[in-house]
Amino acid sequence: MEKKKILFVCLGNICRSPAAEGIMKTISQKNGMKDKLFIDSAGTIAYHAGENPDARMVMHALKRGYVLDHKARKFNPEKDFQYFDYIVTMDNQNNADIKSLDINGIYKNKIFKMTDFSKEFKVNEVPDPYYSGPEGFENVIDILEDACNGLLKKIENDS
Ligand code: 4NP
Repeated sequence: MEKKKILFVCLGNICRSPAAEGIMKTISQKNGMKDKLFIDSAGTIAYHAGENPDARMVMHALKRGYVLDHKARKFNPEKDFQYFDYIVTMDNQNNADIKSLDINGIYKNKIFKMTDFSKEFKVNEVPDPYYSGPEGFENVIDILEDACNGLLKKIENDS
């Protein structure tokens, strides 16, 4: 079976979406699903393109055993809409921005919000931690771990 392709999307592609990518890679490996998935991340803006993930996010993720290995890039509507099966945005603004690039609504069934897959956490968005303290980064990872498990279940059910 062809790999299912997942693209996590946030604003800068240095905090939330590379963390989601790293967490999903680790969780899918533990579940024996890693070979069935291709996992990447992107931002809606190019401001941090080429950069490594934010050092604070790298540190908080590593404390839980997640290695973040990614270079920031901007979402490319000409390639990413067609290539990926699940385009998973972090907050309402990212979601609206990605939907606005899908001018004819062709790809609307591929566009999700990360919190669509939350199980334990009653939240509507993965909040931007950029201007927060350490607790903001910990909160993001808590939400992402929960939602990654939910997304993995959905992909298993869809397959
Ligand atoms: P991210 O966080 O969208 O989770 O990568 C941010 C990164 C950079 C900025 C904002 C949020 N920024 O304003 O540069």
